Order: sequence, then C-alpha cells, then structure tokens
Amino acid sequence: MFDIIIRNGTIATASDVFIADIGLRDGAIVQIGGEMTEARQMIDATGKYVLPGGIDSHVHLSQPQPPGIEMCDDFESGTRSALIGGNTTVMPFCLQEKGRPLREVLAEYHALAEGRCHTDVSFHLIISEITPQLLGQELPALVEDGYTSFKVFMTYEGLRLRDDEILETMDCARRSGALVMVHCENEDAIRYLIGRHEMAGDVAPKAHATTRPTLVEREAAHRALSLAQVVDVPIVIVHVSNREAMDEIRRARERGQKVIGETCPQYLMLTADDLDRDNWEGARYVCSPPPRDKASQEACWEGLEQGVFDIYSSDHCPFRFNDDKGKLNPPGKTSFRHIPNGIPGIAMRLPILFSEGVMKGRIDISRFVALSSTNHAKTYGLYPRKGSITIGADADLSIWDPAVQRRITHDDLQDGCDYTPYEGLEVQGWPTTVLLRGEVVVDDGQLVSSRRGVHLARDRSPLATKVFNDKTQPSI
Ligand code: URP
Ligand code: ZN
Ligand code: ZN
Ligand code: ZN
Repeated sequence: MFDIIIRNGTIATASDVFIADIGLRDGAIVQIGGEMTEARQMIDATGKYVLPGGIDSHVHLSQPQPPGIEMCDDFESGTRSALIGGNTTVMPFCLQEKGRPLREVLAEYHALAEGRCHTDVSFHLIISEITPQLLGQELPALVEDGYTSFKVFMTYEGLRLRDDEILETMDCARRSGALVMVHCENEDAIRYLIGRHEMAGDVAPKAHATTRPTLVEREAAHRALSLAQVVDVPIVIVHVSNREAMDEIRRARERGQKVIGETCPQYLMLTADDLDRDNWEGARYVCSPPPRDKASQEACWEGLEQGVFDIYSSDHCPFRFNDDKGKLNPPGKTSFRHIPNGIPGIAMRLPILFSEGVMKGRIDISRFVALSSTNHAKTYGLYPRKGSITIGADADLSIWDPAVQRRITHDDLQDGCDYTPYEGLEVQGWPTTVLLRGEVVVDDGQLVSSRRGVHLARDRSPLATKVFNDKTQPSI
C-alpha cells in the first residue's frame, strides 16, 4: 500500500527520461516502475513530466537592509512563491552582522523561518567581517553543523572583503571543507564610475548599468579565480551575466581549477535598456551585476547549454517599487546609487527555463533537471536526498504540464513584491502539481496544503571535501 502513486508520467532525471509509475510512502520515493496498485491517492501524470522538485540555491529573504529600505519577502511569502514556481527547496542567506557572533544572527534567521516555510530551507552564510575567532572556531563549527557554504562579496561598501580577507576566508573554507561563493564586481572601479556619472548629473536608474560594466565583472571574476588558485579551493562564481566572465570560468577550468558557474533568469530575459525608463521606472530592473545586452543573453544561453554554468538560480532579492521603503523612494533618491539592488524571480525562474529553454529546443529536459535541481543538490551537499528521483530520496516532485500556456501577471506569483520584471511574458509549460516530502502541496497551480518545510543541515560539498581531505599544502 502506497500513500501516493503517480501514474504514467514521463520521469526525467539529470541523466534519464522514461515513462513509469512512482510509488511514495512516508515522504519518500519507494518504488519506480513495476506493479503498483493500491494507494490512498492516485495522480494521473499522462502527458506530463515528473521531475525532482526545483532547488533554488540563491535566494534572499528577510535580509536586513540599510535604514529606510525593506526587503519585501519573508520566509512565508518567499517560499510560497517558490512553491508556486515548482520549487521544493530554497537556500537563502544569513548575513553576518558586524560585531555579533554569527551563530546568534543565524538563530534569529531560524526563528523567522521556523514553522513559516512552504519549502524546505537551508542557509548559506554571508561573511562580511573576518576575525581570528570567526575563522578559527566559529565557521569551522558551523560547517560541522551543516552550514557548508559561505558567500563573499567583492562589491558593496560595508559588505565587500579585501583580497587578503577573501584569501583568509578561502583558507578557512579549505580547512573546514566549506564551499565559497563569490560575488564578482570590482567595487573601486564602480565607485570611480559612479562618482564620474554623478558629477556629470547622470543619475537616472540606467546609469546603474553603465557604472557596472562587464569589465568590472570580468576583472573580479579573474581575481576571484586567481585567489582561489592561490589557496587551492573550489569556488562558485554566482550570478554571471556575460561572455567575458564566462570566459574566465572556462580558462580557469583549462588550468585545472574546480569552479562552478551560476547564471540567473534576468541575464537571459532582460537587458540594460530595461533600466532606461522614465519616472524612475527603470529602478524595477536594478540588480547587480546588471542585465546586459542581447549578445550577453545569447552567451548565457550558450553557457547553460554547454556547461559553463552548472547552476541556474533566481537570485531573488525583492523590493517593492511603489513603496516608501522600496525602489521608488530610497533615501536620497536623487541618484541611482541609492536604489536597492535586486529583483524578484523566485516563482519565474523555472517557468522561464522550461518555456524558453526546453520548449524552444535550447536545452533538453534532462539538462533542465540538472540546472534547476540536481546540480544544486550535488554542489551544496544535499544529494541524493534532494535533486534526484531514486529509491529512498525525499518525495519532492514537480509535475510539469507542457500543454499549459500562460501570460504572466504579478498577481499570480504570490510573492510580497508589487511587480514582476516578466509581466506579460507568454510561457508554455507550468508546474501544475508539486509534492513536498510526499504530500501534494500545489494542485492545479494552487497552494493546497499547510504543510511546512524543514531546515536541512547539509553535508560538505563533494568539491570541497576533496581539498579538505587532501592535507598537503596548496601546490603553488
Ligand atoms: O542585485 C542583487 N543581485 N542583489 C542581491 C544581492 C546579491 O548580490 O546577490
Ligand atoms: Zn551577489
Ligand atoms: Zn552614463
Ligand atoms: Zn544574491
């Protein structure tokens, strides 16, 4: 007797596509194919894809902001929207607050998330200040407890680390077996360009894109990879927007470095022209790195197809537009410099990749599964419990109907924002049914369950474990 049998769906994993039934019991996948008759619930998936639930490994929720600005998704609204878009696990960031023990800050994030998440959740740590105590004791202990990835920033005043600090953080990651994610943009060059633009009175949102050109991303990607080579650690280069940064990843791999590349829907769908709108409207599209041009979009698609990118995440970082704590009225709004960086995308990430990628023939369904779920689980230490359709794995599944056509409107996405950058986009294919650990949580595109997600302590990334276990010194 099964709890649920999903009948006759086209099951796709990162390596296989086949038609079979799946039997679920006690929150797990217990049978794939073969005789299955009795269940409390039958789901007919004829003509539909049955896929591992999406894992969005780059999401910002309830992250504290400078005075006068507020992020508009908390763990409830953000994970609800994630679920509607076919995700069953999200990985938000815990931002270290300077001068406070990281574990204390993490406890506050857990308190905010506890009992409110619609998906399973696992935190990355953002390192904004290094101390001997942090690198010597705190971080290694947190890695042991399942927080096995840190993000460092090369941009944003107050958040960026200097190169020596990045090296020390990478060294800590090597010693503790963590994986470092790097935001690659050269802050000093950006500040120089912002100064010049402001002096010239060029302060509209579109200047956000011209003051963060591709070369500042390329330079920082090259530097991050060089620093990683000095320490001999694998890294993830997050939210890559253009070909030049992609070429840095390719070259690093040719040198033998282990590097994971990530891109996001905004770099496939938006351009810098979206920032060039009257009445501050361009602020809606301000994120960093900024959207580029059509050629960069094509480059990013190529990267998804050919494997420069292993990971495709939303970088969901939502601020309301018509809000005195959002993008329209940031304090001192006379300059683009004050617009909070980030755009919403947690619900639209997968429908965009499915519709523009799979349905338009750019990628096949197995590549979709790899980019949307399996590679996230493998990279960040959740595999095979998550990101796979195998016996014993959590029954986190999304059933996609390729026949559904939808015109996107923000109201359908159920996030806390007041716009979507993809308003009016026509998509083909939708995750009509979603199961979280064996329970139907989305049916016919609607939330139908009050089931709550749990926190996932993660294993070390297999990439990081390799250097962790190799106790010899870096070869340089
Ligand atoms: O503009 C962006 N990407 N905001 C989110 C923070 C980050 O850098 O990932
Ligand atoms: Zn970033
Ligand atoms: Zn300009
Ligand atoms: Zn981000």
